[in-house]
Amino acid sequence: MKPLSVMLSMLAIGITSSAAMADGASLPKVSPANSDLVNRGAYIARAADCMACHGEDYTGSNTPIATPMGDIYSTNITPSKRYGIGNYTEADLKNALQKGRAPNHMLYPAMPYPSYNGMTDEDISALFAYLQTVPAVNQAPKHKTDLPFPFNIRSLMIGWNAINVPSTEKRDGLNETQQRGEYLVNNLEHCGTCHTPRNSTMGFDKSKYLSGAQLGNWHAPNITPDESSGIGSWSEQDIVTYLRSGELDQRAYAGGPMGEAVAHSTRYLKNEDLSAIASYLKAVPAIQTEDKVSAIDVSRLPTPMNESITHDLLAQKEYLKQAKAEVGNGSNSPESLYLAACGSCHGVNGYGQPDARYAPIVGLSSIRRDKPDALVNMILHGVEGATNTSPIMPGFSDELNSEQIAGIANYVRVNFGGLASSDVSADDVDRIENTGVDKPFLIKYAGLLAIIGIIVAIAIIVFIIRAILRSKRRA
Ligand code: HEC
Ligand code: HEC
Ligand code: HEC
Repeated sequence: MKPLSVMLSMLAIGITSSAAMADGASLPKVSPANSDLVNRGAYIARAADCMACHGEDYTGSNTPIATPMGDIYSTNITPSKRYGIGNYTEADLKNALQKGRAPNHMLYPAMPYPSYNGMTDEDISALFAYLQTVPAVNQAPKHKTDLPFPFNIRSLMIGWNAINVPSTEKRDGLNETQQRGEYLVNNLEHCGTCHTPRNSTMGFDKSKYLSGAQLGNWHAPNITPDESSGIGSWSEQDIVTYLRSGELDQRAYAGGPMGEAVAHSTRYLKNEDLSAIASYLKAVPAIQTEDKVSAIDVSRLPTPMNESITHDLLAQKEYLKQAKAEVGNGSNSPESLYLAACGSCHGVNGYGQPDARYAPIVGLSSIRRDKPDALVNMILHGVEGATNTSPIMPGFSDELNSEQIAGIANYVRVNFGGLASSDVSADDVDRIENTGVDKPFLIKYAGLLAIIGIIVAIAIIVFIIRAILRSKRRA
């Protein structure tokens, strides 16, 4: 068992390291030997999260963006003349970023140019200068995008772009800080690609700006300042802390795609930029959605058993062993199921194992929502995070049946979320499992939606051609 003093000093290390991060994790590729312009470009690359898709070394990803029409792969954007963008001029980069137009072909909107459309010329110049300094890698990604007809006709994107680019509008009445926040949220960080739902052409539904969207098995929550369904109860400092560290103690956690956004991008931002984002998120219209999130009721959260048991896996071993034996003997008690399936990582009372860096799950917003979908999906499919160095959370869809998953979900929502009651049923679990998109989830899932939009664009073009033919026939 670990003495309390060690525990406390470990906590202290946690605190100091996050304090050290307070002004942005240092940028690995920024060097005093580089010019200011290049260093600024390195920062823009972080803020625009290019690495989430093109990889930390910009060679492109071998993980596809899965769409029903086929897989889309990001490309090598190192200065390699043969495999990368070594022949690009600054104007070429500007066209690719703002218009989705590479020198020889149109890009698919899996590349978020509808958001980058608003990037300033100064930022593109800096990004261009920086991308020249990245080591050239003479190697193509293993896979090439090769969609079947008609999606291989890239010029179809012109029709889609006419309707959906740019994806956002500038808001009136913002102060200077909020304007900076707007630019970061809409144009560089492209938060809306995940948090704004899509309309029938699969562009952004501007009337539901940032009010939450389903992304495969993940749900990107409402981040408008609505009190009941959004983040109205968060202070600006809460938002900054969350974007800096990927967690907000007993309130929220950045898992899956949000974990990636934090790990590749937001944790590197300067305090003033994170504050600008927070200030802007407070200024956007509050939109109330059906998926309310219960206010945190601290009095209903579990009291840690005692310091050493709560935080010491060895001390918890007996509980877990006993629960596993009960489950082995056919017990379906939600508490035993929780302890047997989840307890070894999240602890007997949900406070996690801080020394192993497993996530505490007490009080998280994802277990306090009216809709249990996000939680049930996590139990079914697991959580692949990027801010966390611990082993990933496995999915339990093969191991547990729907009734057991429903039982665990209710147990977690009431005991760790502080809800007064929870009535997730086996039918709910079946419904959620069957509506979930059965594709490997990717942060870039939004690309799928854009592709569906191409179908709509084709339909519109066909419709227009038919209308023209018909009017000709009549004439
Ligand atoms: C959400 C994922 C995503 C992000 C973020 C992203 N890209 Fe891309 N990018 C792609 C994909 C996918 C393609 C290939 C699209 C295609 O095949 O039509 C691409 C293509 C490109 C191209 C065209 C390369 C060529 O073929 O000539 C350039 C240039 C580019 N990206 C630069 C950037 C830069 C710079 C950033 C950051 C500012 C960035 N991308 C951020 C996914 C992304
Ligand atoms: C790639 C998709 C993606 C992008 C990009 C993204 N988010 Fe998220 N975001 C999510 C998902 C998914 C969650 C839910 C995470 C969880 O519950 O573990 C989330 C959660 C959040 C939350 C917590 C809300 C709550 O109620 O718990 C906030 C705040 C947030 N995001 C803000 C932002 C901001 C600001 C940006 C842009 C800087 C951004 N996100 C970009 C997908 C994304
Ligand atoms: C092998 C360890 C492990 C097991 C077993 C495990 N988890 Fe997790 N869980 C994690 C880790 C690690 C995270 C943090 C996600 C990340 O960043 O990878 C997490 C995250 C979560 C979250 C927060 C997700 C969010 O983003 O809001 C919930 C809720 C959760 N787990 C519930 C459960 C439940 C319920 C079970 C049992 C059915 C379970 N976990 C089993 C390791 C585990």
